[in-house]
Amino acid sequence: MTTLIDHKRLSMPLGEAIFTQRSIRRFRPDPIPMEDLRLVIESAVRAPNGGNRQIARFLVVTDRDRIQKFGALYREAWWAKRKDEKGWTKPEDIPPDEKTYRSASVLAEEMKDVPCVVLAYGMPPGWANSVIPAVQNMMLAARALGIGSIPTTLHPSVMDRVHALFGIPKDAVFHFCIPLGYPRGTFGPNVRRPTSETTFLDRWDGPVPWR
Ligand SMILES: Cc1cc2nc3c(=O)[nH]c(=O)nc-3n(C[C@H](O)[C@H](O)[C@H](O)COP(=O)(O)O)c2cc1C
Repeated sequence: MTTLIDHKRLSMPLGEAIFTQRSIRRFRPDPIPMEDLRLVIESAVRAPNGGNRQIARFLVVTDRDRIQKFGALYREAWWAKRKDEKGWTKPEDIPPDEKTYRSASVLAEEMKDVPCVVLAYGMPPGWANSVIPAVQNMMLAARALGIGSIPTTLHPSVMDRVHALFGIPKDAVFHFCIPLGYPRGTFGPNVRRPTSETTFLDRWDGPVPWR
């Protein structure tokens, strides 16, 4: 594989990538070329990070057998979180209007079939704020290549088994599990509160001059 990083392949306008990067939770099984996986990781590591200490580590998983095993742990973790948060233990417990949870529960079933999973870690001290910018860079680069993604988390009850499955050192600090794949469905705009409600000018509660 060439060592040249062909970042010009990320030619989608930045605005288009940012404004169409909604959550993708349903993936086609088609594999992602390794050169594209490399490009998204090369994009990730360009992100700012504390003192340029570069504590972020990425475990890129494409092996089907490991993804199958990881998928079972992800599903268990997803339901463990729902039990902790909501007391839900089965799909029928999710209220019909909880669309995000319903869609997330489908991902919990389908994680075992995704073409690629990236686990994002930080080496000690493991700062989240030195890993998360890299994850966002990675997801935007993926978007520019037509690859969907979503940041997801796990649950303490499965972490020892996740570490054992992949030989992850005990002191590595987990931040995100990001499935990657070509979407079933489409990219598109997401829904957010107006920035005039979430953004202040010059002082807390200072109104911004737009609506
Ligand atoms: C810290 C964090 C944890 C998340 N955990 C999950 C998760 O476990 N499962 C899931 O399907 N989505 C997860 N998400 C994705 C969010 O549900 C998603 O970003 C949010 O609903 C906005 O989606 P949208 O950009 O499509 O509007 C997580 C996102 C973040 C930032």
